[in-house]
This record gives sequence, structure tokens and C-alpha cells, in this order.
Amino acid sequence: MSNVLVLKSSILGDYSQSNALIDHLVQSLNTTAVIERDLAAQPIPVLDGDIAGGLRGGDNLNQKQQAALALSDQLIEEIKASDTIVIGAPMYNFSIPTQLKNWFDLIARAGVTFKYTDTGPVGLLTGKKVIVVTTRGGMHKGGDTDIMVPYLKTFLGFVGMSDVDVIYSEALAMGDEMAAKGIAQAKHELESLAQ
Ligand SMILES: Cc1cc2nc3c(=O)[nH]c(=O)nc-3n(C[C@H](O)[C@H](O)[C@H](O)COP(=O)(O)O)c2cc1C
Repeated sequence: MSNVLVLKSSILGDYSQSNALIDHLVQSLNTTAVIERDLAAQPIPVLDGDIAGGLRGGDNLNQKQQAALALSDQLIEEIKASDTIVIGAPMYNFSIPTQLKNWFDLIARAGVTFKYTDTGPVGLLTGKKVIVVTTRGGMHKGGDTDIMVPYLKTFLGFVGMSDVDVIYSEALAMGDEMAAKGIAQAKHELESLAQ
């Protein structure tokens, strides 16, 4: 039984393959409560100088900074309340969606989600299981063009989430047969993971 935070980041709405795979996974998980955030439907503001300053807190924050800080606090609370975090990460132009990057930018807070020590940075969001579902039109797993998975693991590890499983669904734009295989393989892996 676990509390699950689901982050969807596809821009393709009802046509999204990662959203569909996430729904398939969540149905198979033994959950107590599920918080779902569709980061495309409810976008997180883009980090700029104002917001970066606001995330450090203080007394003289303008309205935009106060709103960003409150949202950041809420996003971090959602992580803390979860045992399992499911992240949809389609590949767009070799990277994660901007919408997911915006969420990362709001949860990276010195002294709150990570701290600097004499021996280097320490992540504070520990004890979480993360499942990343990454969908791709082509095939990139383990190759030079897969820069997004090392990035995802680096960022998540930095804030303390180092128990990360990555489920790949690839070749989705390489013809019907290859796409069907890519989806079936991912569903099979997700079902095994949910056991
Ligand atoms: C804007 C855009 C950029 C994309 N860039 C890539 C890419 O760099 N490499 C790739 O293999 N597939 C790429 N694709 C294909 C997607 O990864 C594929 O459609 C996948 O299913 C997207 O996940 P989603 O359906 O959950 O949005 C791109 C698709 C879109 C819409």
C-alpha cells in the first residue's frame, strides 16, 4: 500500500502514450491515495530571476514571488506525503518536456530539498521510490542520444531520490508493429514492477 504522486508531462493530452502507460501502471499498483498533477494541463511557471529570488524566501516578496513560493511549498509537500512517485517523461527534442523541467525548477530549494555540506550536496527528499515512464518516437535507450535519463537520475538523486526505475517505451514512430511492441514491452515491465 502506498501513497502515490503522479506527474504527467506530455503535451499530447488524450493522445499521449506516456499518460496511457502511467494510467495502466497506477491501476496495477496497490495504492492508498493518489495525487495526480498534469503539468501540461496545469503548467508550473517558468523559473526567472523574480521567481528564483522568491524561492529563497524573505519579507519583501512581490505577489508573483509569493505565489511561486506557495506553489513550491505545495509541490514539495506532495512529494513528502508520497512513498512512490511516478513521472511521465516523453522525449521531446532529445530532452524532457519543458513542463517537467519547470516542476524540477520549483522543487530545487537549498535548505529545503537539498543542502550543501563540507562533503558536498545532500538530498533531503529521501525514502521515495521513483518510477519514470519514458516514451520515444525512436530508439535511444543506453545510447549517446539518451541524455535525458542520466539528467533525470542526476537531478532526482541531487534532491535525495536515488531509488529510480526507468521504463522505456520506444520506437513509437517507427511503424505500427514496432510501436505495438514498444508499448507491450513497457506494459509488461510496468506490471512486473507493480507486483
Ligand atoms: C515536439 C516533439 C518532439 C519530439 N522529439 C523526439 C525526439 O527527439 N526523439 C524521439 O525519439 N522522439 C521524439 N518525439 C516523439 C515522442 O517521443 C513520442 O511521440 C512519444 O510518444 C511522446 O510521448 P507522449 O505521447 O506521452 O507525449 C517527439 C514528439 C514531439 C511531439
